[in-house]
Amino acid sequence: MDSPLLRRLLVAAAILCVLVTAGLIGRLWWLAGTQDTPPAALAAAIGGPFRMTDHNGRAVTDADFRGRPMIVYFGYTYCPDVCPTGLQTLAAALDLLGGDAARVWPVFVTVDPERDTVAQMKDYVAAFHPRLIGLTGTIEQVRDIARAYRVYFRKVTPEGSTDYLVDHSSAFYVMGKDGAFASHLTHQATPEAIAARLRTLL
Ligand code: NI
Repeated sequence: MDSPLLRRLLVAAAILCVLVTAGLIGRLWWLAGTQDTPPAALAAAIGGPFRMTDHNGRAVTDADFRGRPMIVYFGYTYCPDVCPTGLQTLAAALDLLGGDAARVWPVFVTVDPERDTVAQMKDYVAAFHPRLIGLTGTIEQVRDIARAYRVYFRKVTPEGSTDYLVDHSSAFYVMGKDGAFASHLTHQATPEAIAARLRTLL
């Protein structure tokens, strides 16, 4: 069959395919951490209002973290390896910032509020950096903030164990002074890269 209409439809479909693929590649490219500016739709989709309790037992909301760039990392204090590594990297980035570390909100949010009490969070964050802020809350509050930041977490109990682990995504979320999402950095980011990104937002 050689209908001009069919040929035109095929050409239109091919163009559409190329556009959709280009859009997807653009997004993946950004997610790989190679671009600084997120696609607008993604920027609007990450972050937002939350209510939590800090490691000193104070009730806080997202509004308490305005006026300085904020870097957020999700995890839990019983995490065997991933979280401690991420938080060590964050602490090293804060050290690189020197006096400017006081102009940043570094935040660690637990995804395991059952075990991560205020007292547990207080001890844990202090072990990494004096400026690190720990946030815990009710299970609902944690679920809400994780949803806002598009963070995945799930309790898993290894076979033969009575203790559970929490599977979770681990990335650094960087928010601007206005609380709007600025960029994300992967768990493999270096302290230098994190410090440099925060500096651009000071
Ligand atoms: Ni972890």
